[in-house]
Amino acid sequence: MHTTTSRPLAVVTGASSGIGRELAKQFASNDFDLIIAAEDAELQSAARELEQLGASVEAVQVDLSTDAGVDELHRRMSSAGRPVDAVALNAGIGAGGEFANGTDLADELRLVDLNVRSTVHLAKHVVHDMVERGEGRILLTSSIASSMPGTFHAVYNASKSFVQSFALALRAELEDTGVTVTSLMPGPTDTEFFERADLTDTMIGAGPKDDPSDVARDGFEALMAGRERVVSASINTKLQGRGSRLLPDAVKARMHALMAQPGSAKRIEGFPQPIKATAHGVIDYGFFALMTTGPVLLKLNPRIRNLSWAVAATQGTINALTDHPVGLRRIIPLRIHGWLELAAAPAVIALPPLTGAVSDRRARRAWLTVLGLLATNYTLTDYDAPADS
Ligand SMILES: NC(=O)c1ccc[n+]([C@@H]2O[C@H](COP(=O)([O-])OP(=O)(O)OC[C@H]3O[C@@H](n4cnc5c(N)ncnc54)[C@H](OP(=O)(O)O)[C@@H]3O)[C@@H](O)[C@H]2O)c1
Repeated sequence: MHTTTSRPLAVVTGASSGIGRELAKQFASNDFDLIIAAEDAELQSAARELEQLGASVEAVQVDLSTDAGVDELHRRMSSAGRPVDAVALNAGIGAGGEFANGTDLADELRLVDLNVRSTVHLAKHVVHDMVERGEGRILLTSSIASSMPGTFHAVYNASKSFVQSFALALRAELEDTGVTVTSLMPGPTDTEFFERADLTDTMIGAGPKDDPSDVARDGFEALMAGRERVVSASINTKLQGRGSRLLPDAVKARMHALMAQPGSAKRIEGFPQPIKATAHGVIDYGFFALMTTGPVLLKLNPRIRNLSWAVAATQGTINALTDHPVGLRRIIPLRIHGWLELAAAPAVIALPPLTGAVSDRRARRAWLTVLGLLATNYTLTDYDAPADS
């Protein structure tokens, strides 16, 4: 690596594939030189690709789940002979399955070592150096999973809650130092993550995913703008991120179970339009859970609770009779399902305010969440899809 250059220097961990590789490409395309880290030899091919974009690249092949690996990366950063301007602490793994009998403790402890311990360890070095210089940008790859209890992916979501909380706290602590901290919160993204985490037979693993290059572009732009966080990349992911800030934890835990339970992929098998239909299915589940449990958990007034249950019962009946992922039987074609849902919509939209059921703040918020889910649901569903395809 050249040491006499005016080009800024960035460090990206987990840069051999997926979001990290795309983040590194963003840095290279924006005239940064790079130190990239990952464990396997694929890192060398990433380095060559980045060099073709004009960057000077140093590839550090280390196991970041160990203290020795982190120390080695920091040693290489210090010996670059120039300050590090930006760091993306991105390396991370998942471990799907049932905690009691499905997952392996060694995998989960390694996950904690990489996602949590190494992030803190590296941040300690990096933050100290940047604060001393009075400038620097730090990106932590969190996840929208950070805001949901990760039923059947429990240790992973907990690790991302840690990263998210850590990022926000560091950001506030460093407010007057010239160092910014940004949290990148992707939704399901098309990388090697799901295969490695043994999640391919789950609804979340088999469902629609964002492009890692879109996620990386959003992350890079937010980092450079010094923003607090960015939920990335698709509208669907942004809605999930927004929605999960409003929903009760118990509801989110149940929704996550539906998406991450081993074998849950079969719920969306054979869908005519996988992307729209999967999103539709996920939202329908969320909608149903929200309408049935939300009013009780939020202790909403009896009028909105009863309305909520009436809507949930109607929705459940329609789903049970329809060609739908949660359909028990296939009696009503999807097109009729659409008309039934659309006919029910005016009631859902108008009845709560007309009956005065949304007079308090929490009830209004719950009602707006339901409207948001409904609108998304209608937008994503292809009601013209033939029932038998
Ligand atoms: N994909 C998603 O849906 C999604 C959603 C939200 C957040 N995220 C987060 O995004 C980050 C990147 O994941 P990804 O989706 O891009 O997955 P990925 O394609 O599997 O990339 C993971 C990267 O981390 C590196 N890594 C794994 N174990 C390592 C270790 N012990 N030491 C050093 N490097 C190691 C991998 O390098 P090696 O191949 O050399 O091991 C690879 O470069 C993770 O923090 C993940 O939690 C992903």
